[in-house]
Amino acid sequence: MAKKEYFSDIHRAQWKTRMGFILASIGSAVGLGNIWRFSYLTYESGGGAFLIPYFIALAVVGIPLLILEFGLGHRQKGSAPKSFYKISPAWEWLGWWAIIFVMFGIVMYYGVVIAWALNYVFYSLTQAWGADTNTFFYNTFLGITSGPGVLGYIRPQILFGLFAVWVMNWIIVFFGVEKGIERANKILMPLLLLLTLVLVVWSLSLEGARVGLTQYLSPDFSALLNPRVWAAAFSQIFFTLSLGFGIMVAYASYLPKETDITKNALIISLADCFFAFIAGFAVWGTLGYMSVASGVPVSEVASESLGLAFVVYPQAISMMPAFARTFGVIFFSILVFAGLSSSISILEAFTSGVMDKFHLRRKPLVSVLCLVGFLGGLIFTTGGGLFWLDIVDHFLTNYGLISVGILQCLVIGWYFKAGKLREHINNVSDMKIGVWWDFSVKFITPIILVAILISSISQEFSAPYGNYPVTWIIFIGRDWLLATLIASIIVAGAKWRKKNGTYK
Ligand code: ALA
Repeated sequence: MAKKEYFSDIHRAQWKTRMGFILASIGSAVGLGNIWRFSYLTYESGGGAFLIPYFIALAVVGIPLLILEFGLGHRQKGSAPKSFYKISPAWEWLGWWAIIFVMFGIVMYYGVVIAWALNYVFYSLTQAWGADTNTFFYNTFLGITSGPGVLGYIRPQILFGLFAVWVMNWIIVFFGVEKGIERANKILMPLLLLLTLVLVVWSLSLEGARVGLTQYLSPDFSALLNPRVWAAAFSQIFFTLSLGFGIMVAYASYLPKETDITKNALIISLADCFFAFIAGFAVWGTLGYMSVASGVPVSEVASESLGLAFVVYPQAISMMPAFARTFGVIFFSILVFAGLSSSISILEAFTSGVMDKFHLRRKPLVSVLCLVGFLGGLIFTTGGGLFWLDIVDHFLTNYGLISVGILQCLVIGWYFKAGKLREHINNVSDMKIGVWWDFSVKFITPIILVAILISSISQEFSAPYGNYPVTWIIFIGRDWLLATLIASIIVAGAKWRKKNGTYK
């Protein structure tokens, strides 16, 4: 009887429509990862070479894991911590770990990148970046310091942007699943699609676009021998599909009893990767245009990675003969809308976990979390913030997300039994999955992920990431991740609160 009181699902929020769920999940998946991260990853690996491991990662890890996360949240009707707790209290920490390092890590820097984009929407109107977009971005805008040890000061314009981002997150998540998140995505997603299509068609019509596209679409098989490219592609699949974030588990818990989990997972993962692929046409088309206009090879038009969207795009915009402002506003608005629909999903994954366990009320909880997210993001708004962002992103994505992915496969595949979850998924879905899925969850996905993890760790020892001083890498990257792990064990040890306020 007691169990019912903690896990009473009668009042659990629900999506109003299936389309609402699909749009919200696509909204979570399609984010900065699809444009900002995907474009610099393809650029770093020379273009087309990245697409092969990327689509392989989608097939062997992305789709099976998305089905797993949807199946888990739907069967257990709970956020990630609650879903794992119901499997065994000993695994509750795993659910917390995912939502803690995304709430106290990923979304904090993610919000700052949205804030950059928001600033750039306005800069587009005057082309404030002038002739040297690189110096403008790094020096004038970010006020970059000499390294992660020198923070400099908080950049006011990024601070304002960050504040605006958290106010928007707050307004949307405050109103809950149906009235807030579902409604916002119903507006954001069609808008995003429309703007992206305009941008792609426009970019493809630029003179020289073809030069960029050739590079984007022609595979360079030698890059496939580089383990870094593989590791980057697999982590990118996690990032882009919001896997290991605890988001998809929570979102699926708001689905009605009868729903097609498998088909939903397929639609969402394919839509997300298709979006990244298509957005790549805009990025590479623009790179081709710049290459032809400036007489520099495509591989040399941009010299660096993280700032690709904020250095190369402004440069391209400045070179455009007509409607340059509109082009800039469209591009940076796409980043803002895509980023917002993802950041609200991160906030919701954490909110849902806390509400499940402690039965706190949504509105005050979301208000406090937004304040915490904003304050936590301040470090990334300083002159040294970009270095911190780079290191935290590297560690949380490559180690945090991948570790959660491995553990999810092991817990579900072996402890809970993949067959049992598959049975649930098949019972509610029209589209059935076969035993191949069990095999994938038990063997293929975890083995590949462990290999990726080992290769990433060994690279860490062969050369310090990004040539940063080792002590800073350890302090910012490893310790950040470890702190979230310890926090998750502590929160998992706390007692579950009943609805009437007493504790178990
Ligand atoms: N899935 C989100 C993105 O790609 C986090 O940005």
